[in-house]
Amino acid sequence: MIQPYVLPYDLAGLEPHISRKTMDAHYNRHYLNYLRKLNELLVQNNTPQIPVAAIFSSIDIFPIQVRDDILYNAGGVANHELYFSGMRPNASKEIPEPLRSALIAKFGSLENFRNRLIEYATILPGSGYTFLVVNPRGDLVLMNLGNQESPYSYGMIPIMNIDVWEHAYYLDKLNERGKYIDDFLEVVDYNKINENYQNALLELRNR
Ligand SMILES: [Fe+2]
Repeated sequence: MIQPYVLPYDLAGLEPHISRKTMDAHYNRHYLNYLRKLNELLVQNNTPQIPVAAIFSSIDIFPIQVRDDILYNAGGVANHELYFSGMRPNASKEIPEPLRSALIAKFGSLENFRNRLIEYATILPGSGYTFLVVNPRGDLVLMNLGNQESPYSYGMIPIMNIDVWEHAYYLDKLNERGKYIDDFLEVVDYNKINENYQNALLELRNR
């Protein structure tokens, strides 16, 4: 059984940017539902011990009839864990090295990176996520994926994401996605994203 990711902060810890009510619904209802369904599917298919990230690259070990369902729920688990772990109360606005230099090299400036990130998250139609990923060559790339698709399915290693499903902000901001994106950027934890970046580069080297 895949164990739930435990939030490293209180449900109210991201207030006033993201409310306790939103975090409670998002973590306890949405995320834990994906996890429960994924575990049911893995047990039914005799694969209870597989790590979530490995599911995307080995989806063909499952019968074709259940692959979409498994991918959807595995995405729901992995994408939410990346999202929740990428936020922190009182997060520092400083982007540490080596991520800082890599972002400047890719996007020209940190301001350009921020603007592109906001643009991607704003234009994503319907439900999904904006991801910052490391591609197989080690380059940083922004990508939008719908629903619960995972960058792992495209050979990318996700290091940061913004959940732009309405359930991420509707209770606080109704349909005002732009206000939510601004608030997300107040709590994004670039220390954690930097750690994910360094781990992604290591993972690539070991492939
Ligand atoms: Fe979500």
